[in-house]
Amino acid sequence: MRPALVIILALIILSFQTKKLEKNKIGKKLAASCTNCHLAYDSNVGPTLLNIRKRRSLDWIYQFTINPMKFVSENSQAREVFNKYNRVQMTAFKLTKSEISSILDYIDNVQQKKK
Ligand code: HEC
Repeated sequence: MRPALVIILALIILSFQTKKLEKNKIGKKLAASCTNCHLAYDSNVGPTLLNIRKRRSLDWIYQFTINPMKFVSENSQAREVFNKYNRVQMTAFKLTKSEISSILDYIDNVQQKKK
């Protein structure tokens, strides 16, 4: 391939990436209600949400977020996390799956860089 072509392709890919990040203003705004307790590492307040989609399904995360107490009473993994973090009740958040995805995209992007 000609060098000029490679550069043009790289620029096109780069501009798509930047657009994707700019679009995630929703994720940034909503993540602010999680990142007080959820840091880039497991803290004594709560576990990290960084890369959480590698260990939990989006549905699992959704169930936990919209009604932590109900999910803790039904799901053994959720109960384990609850017990590990001193049985502190997390606040329930009325969010959609797509909003949660935006939050996690934002967290994966930003907290990863800060680490
Ligand atoms: C007041 C502190 C607090 C806030 C704010 C908070 N959480 Fe939590 N979260 C916790 C604690 C503590 C746990 C550990 C489980 C428990 O104690 O219920 C937890 C656990 C979780 C888990 C399970 C993690 C795992 O490792 O399995 C998910 C998912 C989660 N929170 C999502 C969210 C999302 C999304 C937000 C923002 C919309 C949020 N949390 C805001 C305190 C908080």
